[in-house]
Amino acid sequence: MPFSNKIVWITGASSGIGEALAKGLSRKGATLILSARRVDRLERVLRHCEGDDHMVLPLDVTHSDSHQAAFDAILDRFGRLDILILNAGIGQRGSIRESGLEIERRVMEVNFFGCTSLTHVTLPHFLERGSGHYVVMSSVMGKIATPRRATYSASKHALHGYYEGLRAELHETDIAITLLCPGYVKTEISRHSLIPSGVEHGKMDAQHIEAMTAAVFAKKALRVIARKKAITFIGGAERFGPLIERIFPGLYRFLIPRVMNRE
Ligand SMILES: NC(=O)c1ccc[n+]([C@@H]2O[C@H](COP(=O)([O-])OP(=O)(O)OC[C@H]3O[C@@H](n4cnc5c(N)ncnc54)[C@H](OP(=O)(O)O)[C@@H]3O)[C@@H](O)[C@H]2O)c1
Repeated sequence: MPFSNKIVWITGASSGIGEALAKGLSRKGATLILSARRVDRLERVLRHCEGDDHMVLPLDVTHSDSHQAAFDAILDRFGRLDILILNAGIGQRGSIRESGLEIERRVMEVNFFGCTSLTHVTLPHFLERGSGHYVVMSSVMGKIATPRRATYSASKHALHGYYEGLRAELHETDIAITLLCPGYVKTEISRHSLIPSGVEHGKMDAQHIEAMTAAVFAKKALRVIARKKAITFIGGAERFGPLIERIFPGLYRFLIPRVMNRE
């Protein structure tokens, strides 16, 4: 059993994909550290997890000053970390001409620096042990871009550059990196997405209402994580977007503004 007795730290565990991964991993015998900002939601997720040795560890991924202390608390309690799932993230809606630098910085702080900060804090431990596994929640949008999601897309593209580079640096170790690229998954992501005025979008997009549930996504993702695959796209037809862009770049650039600008 690949997850049995593994110590797994999940960021963004208070809802959506993180919550579903936590429940799935608990059923497979993992011991979890559940992190996010909303403690009441984390406590609720904890109540739905199997097993009784899990830890709720409130954490804001943008507060990098607090990350070493958070990791120390994990090592104090469990003595080691096996898998870090860098899942916390926020979405963005709105064109670049409507938005400002402030939105770009806020999205990058959560989606990119939130991951790299926790990587810096945990990498010495993984190197010392000679093993470990980073699971990085990217997106189909980490490989393509569409109108009014440019900042979100950029934040996810940045993860690919960073973690593919890190993978190459670690090739002589047993430290694994899995980049997960979901298409549309039915979660709160669009509700919490930042719009140009800096507030939350506040509603669920049609694509997310009709999308794969987080539980189905988690089931597929756990199979990929167990096999330590390097990169995987999980979703509906939209998961083929990066393939189409690569094989038919001209067609892709013709279609995307015409199809996506209708939303
Ligand atoms: N749903 C999709 O269609 C989709 C598609 C592609 C990729 N993804 C990616 O999947 C990941 C999970 O998103 P989701 O769809 O499950 O959306 P979600 O339900 O909104 O979950 C986002 C999670 O991130 C946490 N979070 C946000 N800002 C944070 C911060 N500053 N510090 C700590 N935690 C923070 C939230 O917890 P708190 O608010 O409690 O802090 C929440 O647990 C994200 O990285 C997202 O980009 C989702």
